[in-house]
Amino acid sequence: MTSPLKKRLSLLGSCRGAFLGVAVLSGLINLLYLSGSIFMMEVYDRVLPSRSIPTLVGLSIIIVVLYLFQGVFDMLRGRIMARVGAAVDEDLSQQIFQGQLKAPLKGKVEGDGQQPLRDLDQLRAFFAGGGPSALFDLPWMPLYLFVCFAFHPWLGVAALGGASLLVVITLLTELLTKEASKAAVSAALVRNGISEGARRNAEVVQAMGMAKRVGVRWADANASYLEYQQRASDVAGGFGAMSKVLRMLLQSAVLAIGAYLVIDGQATGGIMIASSILTSRAMAPVELAIGNWKGFVSARQGWRRLKTLLEAHASAEEPLKLPAPRTLLTVENAGAGAPGGQRFAVQDVAFELKAGSGLGIIGPSASGKSSLARMLVGVWPTWRGKVRLDGAALEQWLPEDLGQHIGYLPQDVELFAGTVAQNIARFEPNPKPEAVIEAAKSANVHEMILQLPDGYETQVGEAGAALSGGQRQRIALARALYGNPFLVVLDEPNSNLDNEGEQALTAAIMSIRARGGIVVVIAHRPSALAGVDLVLVMSEGRVQSFGPKEEVLSKVLRPVPAPQAIEPRVASAIQLKAV
Ligand SMILES: Nc1ncnc2c1ncn2[C@@H]1O[C@H](COP(=O)(O)OP(=O)(O)OP(=O)(O)O)[C@@H](O)[C@H]1O
Ligand SMILES: [Mg+2]
Repeated sequence: MTSPLKKRLSLLGSCRGAFLGVAVLSGLINLLYLSGSIFMMEVYDRVLPSRSIPTLVGLSIIIVVLYLFQGVFDMLRGRIMARVGAAVDEDLSQQIFQGQLKAPLKGKVEGDGQQPLRDLDQLRAFFAGGGPSALFDLPWMPLYLFVCFAFHPWLGVAALGGASLLVVITLLTELLTKEASKAAVSAALVRNGISEGARRNAEVVQAMGMAKRVGVRWADANASYLEYQQRASDVAGGFGAMSKVLRMLLQSAVLAIGAYLVIDGQATGGIMIASSILTSRAMAPVELAIGNWKGFVSARQGWRRLKTLLEAHASAEEPLKLPAPRTLLTVENAGAGAPGGQRFAVQDVAFELKAGSGLGIIGPSASGKSSLARMLVGVWPTWRGKVRLDGAALEQWLPEDLGQHIGYLPQDVELFAGTVAQNIARFEPNPKPEAVIEAAKSANVHEMILQLPDGYETQVGEAGAALSGGQRQRIALARALYGNPFLVVLDEPNSNLDNEGEQALTAAIMSIRARGGIVVVIAHRPSALAGVDLVLVMSEGRVQSFGPKEEVLSKVLRPVPAPQAIEPRVASAIQLKAV
């Protein structure tokens, strides 16, 4: 994987050809724009005085051809811009999607977390719309002004004055809409966050009659979004109208000046008409730019946000592919906390597990058990110390590679919309049916899956909503066991299990150990500890005790005089007997 930053540069490089083409086309189009006024000037100053029909016919044929060319160039330019938009989307969408996926692991996510992809949509729409063409036309303004000056200095001065005023209006639009459109995006994030949260918790909202109150919260957020939106569009609309009036005013003023010059004998009637048309032509891109300003500002802000996202997720060097771990999980004085947070949720954790061992983690609520699990599987990177598999720290692995060696059952099980088989196989494109069934059997869920309406092909619904809590948990357990990963971390796997399920869990734990894997089980109920040989007790984010199961349990279950009396024990490697 090349770094997104480098890729972005190469993307701009590959678009450079397209932009160059658009610039050349814009030049041609703008030169051709002159033809209308030149035609008019010729008709006034040459055809009418000479009353020559052949000249008129000749000029007409030429102008028709020129207009045709202009039309074709305009069409080509629009097509290229639309393709640039599509290319930007194609190149960036995957990286942005990945960045959006990883964002929750790096800190707080605003709103519904979908803003990056919306930004990308906006960027593509901007490229495909008329905005960029206007920007490419802007540099040609001086050409028209120059021609006006060539007609007569006064005409030039009038056109220049008008153009300057329009530019000032554009800058003012920019200045005055910037804050409002930024605020509108933040307000939209809040609004979308509320609706997404309500949708996700629809059952809670319904059962406890919270719909009205959620509706009011949403309406408040929506009102503030609309207000900012309106403020931005009021400003842009006001200046848009002003610029339109100014443009008409300018055209008439130039015509009046031209008329005066004609009366004074300093210019011809043709020049008068042509310069009036030219000035309005010169102002057109500015007006178009003002009209597209809102789109331009939001595309630019979106691009900035995307750039930050891409830079934040720019991976440095590609790690070397490492051999599959076989022997050891080492935790070296490691500590970690919630992404974006400051506080360690676990710290000073040190222990070593050899292949074949099973570790049970116990401790009161909020003692850091789940946090330790997240650190062990690399979801939360260590802030201090290291977690290593066969000596290689987790961050030295390619994420996809590491994923194959890890099975993780989170405390709050969520499945993905898709079939049972797809969920167990972690959405691998062509999973081996035997592997899926093996995982399901180890999780003792094979029979249960066969009872489902479509067996392994049953759709589980969004987040697995079509299944019961226990079914979800057991399928998630099968997903954790899929592919016989070296390290399996199960966060309260028995919270939704019945007796039979618990026995199956113990069997699964034993079989992981028997095949030389390492299994870590977090448990509230001691029944889940049946299959492990080691126990770790967490307390307030630290390891309170670690060692062989019987030893630790007897110590913990013994009445303890005072909490300080228990020395936090840095665990040493413990030789394991094969189970
Ligand atoms: N995503 C998070 N953001 C902020 N703080 C968090 C996050 N996850 C956990 N914490 C904090 O870390 C501490 C330990 O939480 P953790 O989930 O590890 O506890 P636990 O031992 O698993 O508890 P339980 O038995 O209830 O599952 C808690 O104080 C909690 O507030
Ligand atoms: Mg927990």
